[in-house]
Amino acid sequence: MDKLIIRGGAPLRGQVEVSGAKNAALPAMVASLLTEESIRLHRIPQLGDVRTIIGLLNHLGVSVEGRDREPISLRADRIDRFEAPYQLVKTMRASVLVLGPLLARFGRARVSLPGGCAIGTRPINLHLAALEKMGATVSLDAGYVEAKAPRLKGARITFDGQTVTGTENLMMAATLADGVTVLENAACEPEVTDLAALLNRMGARIEGAGTPTISIEGTSHLHGAEHEVIPDRVETGTFMVAAAITGGDVTINRCLPYHLEAVTEKLRETGVRVEETDCSIRVVGDGHVRGVNIRTHPYPGFATDMQAQMTALMSIAQGSSVITETVFENRFMHVNELLRMGADIKVVGTTAFVHGVPTLSGAPVMATDLRASASLVLAGLAAQGITTISRVYHLDRGYESIEQKLLGLGASIERVAE
Ligand code: EPZ
Repeated sequence: MDKLIIRGGAPLRGQVEVSGAKNAALPAMVASLLTEESIRLHRIPQLGDVRTIIGLLNHLGVSVEGRDREPISLRADRIDRFEAPYQLVKTMRASVLVLGPLLARFGRARVSLPGGCAIGTRPINLHLAALEKMGATVSLDAGYVEAKAPRLKGARITFDGQTVTGTENLMMAATLADGVTVLENAACEPEVTDLAALLNRMGARIEGAGTPTISIEGTSHLHGAEHEVIPDRVETGTFMVAAAITGGDVTINRCLPYHLEAVTEKLRETGVRVEETDCSIRVVGDGHVRGVNIRTHPYPGFATDMQAQMTALMSIAQGSSVITETVFENRFMHVNELLRMGADIKVVGTTAFVHGVPTLSGAPVMATDLRASASLVLAGLAAQGITTISRVYHLDRGYESIEQKLLGLGASIERVAE
């Protein structure tokens, strides 16, 4: 296992280009299951979760070609397995996305229940209830979901809670169903909208993606397509916080600022200067930020995936802040590690009470989940002294070439084998 060694204190300066969005790339790659024709995807980031989904798709019989920045081509013309095994699903919950497409195209699927993860139990009950409304028979067997449906039928489905991958699973399933499906209380995340754009390029008939009501008119067949996934809004936000926490001046290129309005507004509230064009964001910090209160919400509210990063920033703010996590029940794993660096944070239930301290001190810390590890990198960049972060495989799941990008901005960071 690798670890990162960071010497903090240097303001980050310069330009950085973000990669394609992990959470758009994963469903886009899974959408290849819906047709026997080839899907060609651009801007797929080279990172852990993408390698995991490629492993799962290969297991099912999908051929995947292309690596190292060239477009990835996927073709599901020889699917001979319909099972997503526990070994693969337990490492990445997004594997459950194969459920809808396998059921829609082949009428059967056997997918391991994902189990919990560091940030919460993360059930898939909303996915399963919705598929049953479309006529699937769903049963649980030895930790696996067994689903069967000769042909899914269009239905009106109201999600009992907003679920991003639940919306994506059902949107994909409905593209090949008999009749029209309407999803109410659907997730509005940009990654849902991006998936709908790909599916419509494949011949699907989806309207309303990006709003709480999505309608999908089923069709008998989808064809191949080419698509470039959207830039990663969470990586963009992470670099914005990196500029703020180090008092630097960073321009993030090839991003979509309108995907980050809630984060931008919060950063401006702390006193940080943020300038936007239609495809770039410049963040200028002066080494002082004010404490602000944050409450995470589904899109377009403040993204839960940016909460840990903002908690790191608030730990050196002037004044206090109250940070409430409303989406996941256990997403403060980064706090114990920040405390080791001298932060003053108290967690009560799903709320963190942060009192800003003048500076953090470098220390050995441990990554526990993807965004918690990003939070520790940010804290290390701001801290006085050396911070060593272990178990960085968590970070590698969702950030492409993070240390190269940070080195390009003047950070003192290196990766060593543990
Ligand atoms: C997606 O996860 C993202 N992952 C997560 O990003 C992100 O944090 C999350 O959406 C919220 O924005 C991908 O897109 C691959 P949910 P997802 O279903 O779809 C509960 C990252 O860091 N729920 O929207 O799994 C669930 O427990 C990752 O990149 C049910 O109760 O999240 C949670 O409390 C982390 N039953 C809430 O809903 C269900 O059937 C939101 O979950 C489904 C969800």
